Amino acid sequence: MNVLVLGLQWGDEGKGKAIDYLAHDYDVVVRFQGGHNAGHTIHFDGQKHVLHLLPSGVFSPNTVSVIAAAVVVDPLQLIEEIKAGNLEGLFCEKRLVLSESAPLILPFHQKLDNIFEESRYLKIGTTKRGIGPAYEDLTGRRAVFIHDLIDCDRFRKRVKALNDYYNKLIEVFGGEPITMESYIDAYLEAGEYLRPIIDNTTYLLHRFWKEGKNILFEGAQGCLLDISLGTYPYVTASHPTVGGVMIGTGLSHKALQKVIGITKAYTTRVGEGPFPTELTCATGEQLRIRGDEFGSTTGRPRRVGWLDLVALKYAVMINGVDSLFVTKMDILDEQETIRAAVAYEIDGQRVERFPGHIGDLIKLKPIYRDFSGWRCDLSNCRNRAALPDAARSYLDFIENYLEVPIEFISIGSDREQTLR
Ligand code: GDP
Ligand code: IMO
Ligand code: MG
Repeated sequence: MNVLVLGLQWGDEGKGKAIDYLAHDYDVVVRFQGGHNAGHTIHFDGQKHVLHLLPSGVFSPNTVSVIAAAVVVDPLQLIEEIKAGNLEGLFCEKRLVLSESAPLILPFHQKLDNIFEESRYLKIGTTKRGIGPAYEDLTGRRAVFIHDLIDCDRFRKRVKALNDYYNKLIEVFGGEPITMESYIDAYLEAGEYLRPIIDNTTYLLHRFWKEGKNILFEGAQGCLLDISLGTYPYVTASHPTVGGVMIGTGLSHKALQKVIGITKAYTTRVGEGPFPTELTCATGEQLRIRGDEFGSTTGRPRRVGWLDLVALKYAVMINGVDSLFVTKMDILDEQETIRAAVAYEIDGQRVERFPGHIGDLIKLKPIYRDFSGWRCDLSNCRNRAALPDAARSYLDFIENYLEVPIEFISIGSDREQTLR
């Protein structure tokens, strides 16, 4: 069975934990979009690992990890991550494969991301990793790819044209131009280092599929950050939604049998943009501290709020979600009352749809349903039936509202703290 695991909110739902937990039953784990803006945290054997580009199956001994064609790759960051995790062994076992068609993130992309964030009238609050500018080059038909990196002459030629082009723009914004000499050798060396794992991942994944291997697709970011279907313009530059799997891998929809949607038991968001159920009061601060809600990539404090079932229902609908993985139930342990938005009020009207544009998103008010908290420690519960009544009622309501079964419940960051 081939399964997609994707975030249903604004990212950081616990995808790293979920993929690592599930990966043991899969032969292949595939990243299909985004780049090192992602920060996927994994806890096992008392250790914490944060992955940005590497698929979260790398710690599973028999799993092949694939970085597919629509992932934007900073090769220096990728190598740093391989070395930091002592994962060079993946090379000789051929358990890590990098698409030759992945667009590169180059130093001027990161510089432009910074310049745009600082100069634009509308701040997105990006991770400043160069993700947006790299995807802009892809749609602008100017991108430089992994396959260029392993052809020294072609790489120099392609990068020079782009570097010259962007230096003009950087100068207009009063920035310091970037010299190609400052990074070209490091990139070419990176190309040599990565050469053994570079391949055509589209054909490789089709072969795996035909051989009946089980493939797990690992979404990065979350549905509401999708460039087309999210809270535009406060979104990322790729497609974290179900269609992104096909765009990013070259596999057809027939290769996907199941979609597991991940949601926290509440909501968080990093960066700017509408957040209807945001808590700016002491309760929000309490949840932020208890949930350790600080970005895995940038360390920024995450904005925190109640669960938004209207937004979740939208995410379930557009992604064809078959089952849910609910994380961080334990963070609500101390709450006397827990709230979830079940509708919105826009211009005095009750609506149960997630607005399609920013104009409505910024003026809506959530309509809440209140739930009693369970006010006890969930960490000793070993299955859903053993949860306190109040916790089960909350989960039952989510399931009924969304009309999707909850398959997994997470009550702690460790791999083992997962209930079925
Ligand atoms: P991702 O980007 O979706 O992989 O999520 P992140 O790793 O950025 O953020 C999720 C954070 O919550 C990480 O620190 C995880 O270790 C942690 N986490 C995941 N599930 C649970 C859970 O059920 N309980 C607690 N306390 N922490 C969790
Ligand atoms: P994971 O995979 C949470 C957010 C940024 C910003 C917007 C655009 O760990 O869930 P970008 O750098 O992508 O151009 O920033 O998207 N963002 C994330 N928020 N989790 C992520 O990834 C994110 N990746 C990007 O904060 O609001
Ligand atoms: Mg994250």
